[in-house]
Amino acid sequence: MLVLGIESSCDETGVALYDSEKGLLADALFSQIDLHRIYGGVVPELASRDHIKRLIPLLNQVLTESGCTKQAIDGVAYTAGPGLVGALLVGASFAKSFAFALGIPTVGVHHMEGHLLAPMLEENPPKFPFVALLVSGGHTQLVRVDGIGRYELLGESVDDAAGEAFDKTAKLLGLNYPGGPEIAKLAMQGVAKRFSFPRPMTDRPGLMFSFSGLKTAALNAWQQCKAECDETEQTKADIALAFQQAVVDTLTIKCRRALEQTGLNQLVIAGGVSANKALRQSLEAMVAPLKGHVFYARPQFCTDNGAMIAYAGCQRLLAGEHGDLAVEVKARWPM
Ligand code: KG4
Ligand code: ZN
Repeated sequence: MLVLGIESSCDETGVALYDSEKGLLADALFSQIDLHRIYGGVVPELASRDHIKRLIPLLNQVLTESGCTKQAIDGVAYTAGPGLVGALLVGASFAKSFAFALGIPTVGVHHMEGHLLAPMLEENPPKFPFVALLVSGGHTQLVRVDGIGRYELLGESVDDAAGEAFDKTAKLLGLNYPGGPEIAKLAMQGVAKRFSFPRPMTDRPGLMFSFSGLKTAALNAWQQCKAECDETEQTKADIALAFQQAVVDTLTIKCRRALEQTGLNQLVIAGGVSANKALRQSLEAMVAPLKGHVFYARPQFCTDNGAMIAYAGCQRLLAGEHGDLAVEVKARWPM
């Protein structure tokens, strides 16, 4: 089965072609980061307008790259939520009209299911069951995964998502959007132990997270340094490192707990923050004594992309799922 995947939930337009026999045939992405950077975050109206511009050229790109014709496509998968409604509507309308013209089925995919399954596109994919840590700009969740669509939420953030905390902390330090990669880069110059931030909610049992206090801890440290006329690049780097270490330690502690609680030793990390090298190293060290394994996607499939939607949609279409012609998207949607 050949499936066209469309991702347009936020600020990346992703289009890909996945074949159930041959694997991923082509993947094209346009990132709007430069468009939104001057605003310090995503402007929804600008995002929708840009998705409209990009979809057809990206579709033509994946057709050329794969050597496939439109007529060879068996189904269309699109991100139906959660995300920015206007942006989602662009991808959904495009998917429905394209599929209608070709007389093929569509399937609406949950964006986080796309992320969760992205490591399946890699050479040594995880096998069910496993624990997944989903860490993106909008979500921080621990999920037990027993199969496609068989997800049990183990814990999630009560306030900011991990990626959101990276973005907000970067903003207060005067760094560019998106903040995750900027903080990670700056942290490499940081001196350890100059600042120490809390590991929120690790002193009590359970698998819930809270990241909004960390951003405040970083803000207080930065304001105090400013008051002492110590606004140097080194100070910024030291705060970035302390912040990243606090997030990484917190995520690692909760992942260890989730593995202990479920008795599993396979951990999948997915979503934009799973691109973070310090997080990957810390989780790999944590699972080593459990003889476990950490699975993640290649960097470009950690952040938003069409390949993960094509893959997830293909699994759902193969299972017999498909939608009607109604264009429905959801800003909020539990997985
Ligand atoms: O999954 P994603 O592309 O979009 C959402 O579904 O939200 O995730 C984007 C988030 C942003 O908050 C970004 O700052 C963060 O992922 N991110 C990172 C890194 N790369 C992206 N956070 C930490 N370290 C990174 N290397
Ligand atoms: Zn995402």
